Amino acid sequence: MEKYYITTAIAYASGKPHIGNTYEIVLADAIARYKRLKGFDVYFQTGTDEHGEKIAQKALDAGLSPQEYVDNISREIKRIWDVMNTSYDKFVRTTDEHHKLVVQHIFQKLYEKGDIYLDKYEGWYCTPCESFWTDTQLVDGKCPDCGREVSKKSEESYFFKMSKYQDKLIEYIETHPEFIQPESRKNEMLNNFLKPGLQDLCVSRTAFDWGIKVPFNDKHIVYVWIDALSNYITNIGYDVDNQTDEFKKWWPADLHLVGKDIIRFHTIYWPILLMALDLPLPKQVFGHPWLLMNNDKMSKSKGNIMYADDLVNLFGVDAIRYYVLHEIPFASDGTITYELIMERINSDLANILGNLVNRTISMANKYFDGKVLNRFVSHEVDSSYIESINSLEERVEKKMAKLEIGLAIDEIFETLRASNKYIDDTMPWSLAKEEEKKERLETVLYNLLEGIRNCAIFLSPYLPDTSAEILRQIASNNLDVGYLENEEYYVLEPVPIFMRLDIPKKLAEN
Ligand code: MSP
Repeated sequence: MEKYYITTAIAYASGKPHIGNTYEIVLADAIARYKRLKGFDVYFQTGTDEHGEKIAQKALDAGLSPQEYVDNISREIKRIWDVMNTSYDKFVRTTDEHHKLVVQHIFQKLYEKGDIYLDKYEGWYCTPCESFWTDTQLVDGKCPDCGREVSKKSEESYFFKMSKYQDKLIEYIETHPEFIQPESRKNEMLNNFLKPGLQDLCVSRTAFDWGIKVPFNDKHIVYVWIDALSNYITNIGYDVDNQTDEFKKWWPADLHLVGKDIIRFHTIYWPILLMALDLPLPKQVFGHPWLLMNNDKMSKSKGNIMYADDLVNLFGVDAIRYYVLHEIPFASDGTITYELIMERINSDLANILGNLVNRTISMANKYFDGKVLNRFVSHEVDSSYIESINSLEERVEKKMAKLEIGLAIDEIFETLRASNKYIDDTMPWSLAKEEEKKERLETVLYNLLEGIRNCAIFLSPYLPDTSAEILRQIASNNLDVGYLENEEYYVLEPVPIFMRLDIPKKLAEN
């Protein structure tokens, strides 16, 4: 069985994650479930990033020790990942003893190799970003990443010789066009960061102590990004002098899924770290766009944050999964509002999907007491419908191969629409009026049930509960894809899967 190792970024254990951070785990989950459906041996890793000055400060503000604080937040993040019904195989934490030990070994090895050296740093420091900047990097005297105030700092620090690996990395990126996706991000990394030349990276801190100690100099804490990025290997059995069978099985990762803001860390620092460790690079890093609230960045200060668990309480988990997976385009930011969520539920989930399933099962019960066989009374109109069912697998695969999740879902909805059209064209209620058309009527319902069964199978990565509920109602556990000629259906009573929402009323309630 071919293996597939997928990761998300590990979320900062600094506060409750909003729906934007949660989007990433749902996206990764859809890909992981899809790969399992295709027969891959999948390992899906996520978790929390728990060290650093900012987190230590938050703990202090909350009157807790840093460890108590991150224990609480990490638990909350895991709870939200579970509320979203995500099927990760391992939830990792950077405060795990084993992780900390291997990070120390990595730091030691790079020091012994001469890639890390001790020097003094002077520059502008941004506390929220935990980053040093030079005069020329500042934008209007402020942090170029977050736009906040910076302060002058001088620190003894260890440095990593980034420039040593720069040419090798440029060559790698240029000869592996699939490595950085989408394409626009690749050009940005090459032209804005790599080609102008890399500065050596400051990889330790002395100003605070919430982190992993440098093993040979305990005044220093390992830079949070070296600590965090290493999670992708420390948790699958890597150690500097012991590469276990588990590690050899899973590494290199097939896909690191990360937000566009941290693509630089994953396509420059991380590959260079791996090169220094003589390890192969991940096959692909995908920098997904962001989810905006009303076209604006979500932030506590703006008071425009939406949380996944609140949304799930209001609309149900699959409606929210559907919204974020379908509405965020492949390469540009998406937006979320209550109205948009409800419009999508009504137009897609209730009208197209829910109605189809409900109508078909109701007719199977009404006309045949639930028992439907293929009577092979075919008409011309059947062939294009059956073609839509049979081409579904390939159409979905084409989009998923490019990680165009929203478009993959559109392909399934294409077949659902074709099913509704098939009902309009064949008019089962009118066939039911004539006894001699009974076998034609049963064939029509059979075809519809096959269409619904196939759509339910392909919906399973995106809407797992809904998919299972549809298969339950049509009483099918056959996961063979494509139109099958000899199934025997004995459907259950229909239960509506998505209700139409009265938008003004629901808005008034909240
Ligand atoms: N801890 C680092 C990642 C270390 S990975 C070795 C981090 N954490 S984070 O909590 O700030 O972000 C977690 C992920 O959520 C990142 O991939 C980030 O890009 C993503 N998102 C943060 N806000 C987002 C949106 N509004 N929309 C979509 N994704 C967003 O960065």
